[in-house]
Amino acid sequence: MSNRMIRILVIHGPNLNLLGTREPGVYGVDTLERVNSRITDWASSSGVEVQVFQSNHEGAILDEIHSGLGKVDGILINPGAFSHYSYAIRDAIASVGIPAVEVHLSNIYAREPFRHTSVIAPVAVGQVSGFGPQSYILGLEGLIYRIRHTDIRHTDID
Ligand code: DQA
Repeated sequence: MSNRMIRILVIHGPNLNLLGTREPGVYGVDTLERVNSRITDWASSSGVEVQVFQSNHEGAILDEIHSGLGKVDGILINPGAFSHYSYAIRDAIASVGIPAVEVHLSNIYAREPFRHTSVIAPVAVGQVSGFGPQSYILGLEGLIYRIRHTDIRHTDID
């Protein structure tokens, strides 16, 4: 395993740009900017490099996942509603073979039945759901643990 800094791609899916004003009773009052600074603060104090991306478009998310090949060691993704039906995002994660962790602000299992299924979870190394913005930090910790405890580094190929 190389000693190069671990690089993580953080992806926020649809409607997460509206955090802070979007259903605050469910998603809290932190804006996406605030959530991102929690992520980047945590990453810099942990010696991890993160790049953050948000899109409301499935194709743009697919392109971003593909662009991680050879560049990032892990993907932390909140696919938003795409979690429940995007086989394309699921296939993209499976195709690049980069370890991914799925995160949700809300506990999707305590909500409407259509949210109880994630088509992403089976191709993720794990899932964190229900801890608000802390879900991202918990997800990062798990992802980094998994990366550090496997022999494969996905940036070793560049
Ligand atoms: C979400 C949960 C999804 O069901 C929903 O569509 C979202 C946000 C969450 O973070 O709790 O957009 O992914």
